[in-house]
Amino acid sequence: MGLNYHFLTTLLITITIATTFKLVHTTKTNTEFVKSSCTFTTYPRLCFTSLSTQATLIQASPQLMAHAALNITLASAKSTSAMMVRLSSTRQGRLKPREVSAMRDCVEELADTLDELKKSIGEMARLSGSNYEVYMSDIQTWVSAALTDENTCTEGFEGDDMNGKLKVLVRQRILVIAHLTSNALALINHFAFIHG
Ligand SMILES: *[C@@H]1O[C@H](CO)[C@@H](O)[C@H](O)[C@H]1NC(C)=O
Repeated sequence: MGLNYHFLTTLLITITIATTFKLVHTTKTNTEFVKSSCTFTTYPRLCFTSLSTQATLIQASPQLMAHAALNITLASAKSTSAMMVRLSSTRQGRLKPREVSAMRDCVEELADTLDELKKSIGEMARLSGSNYEVYMSDIQTWVSAALTDENTCTEGFEGDDMNGKLKVLVRQRILVIAHLTSNALALINHFAFIHG
């Protein structure tokens, strides 16, 4: 009885140690994968900070990596869009007509961006052998369009007659989204390249 108990305890400890080692090793491998995939992007540091937390989910799959990058970009674009809407209403009356119209255009461009990212995520999740070419081409088109919409938003805030603080705030937020989108596109293109 005593010996049996000792044996079981030893076995349990051995299994626990082995599982922990495997888990640590796998997590490390997945994180390394995210890091090396990020070298294909224009903003590798932003890529790594935004995606290393998703390493377990990505599991060293280029498709999941691109999918996760789109997910992160969508989440960021959603929160910036909400911020812009909030800003427009709280600053109502204190904005110049040109600023009001730049804000309105930008909210519209962000709505288009959200739509394009959502459609891309939908097809990325359903990508398979039979639809691959059509879906991949759709995704590349939509994500490029999202990037164009973000740049159009930033351009709306150019010019010296815009409020400095507002301009800086909006441009900084949109720049992050544009960089995340650019990274997602690079990861999509990388996935397409190795898929052939
Ligand atoms: C992307 O987001 C969807 C919806 O929230 C989630 O189900 C999916 O697991 C995510 N995929 C990746 C690779 O992050």
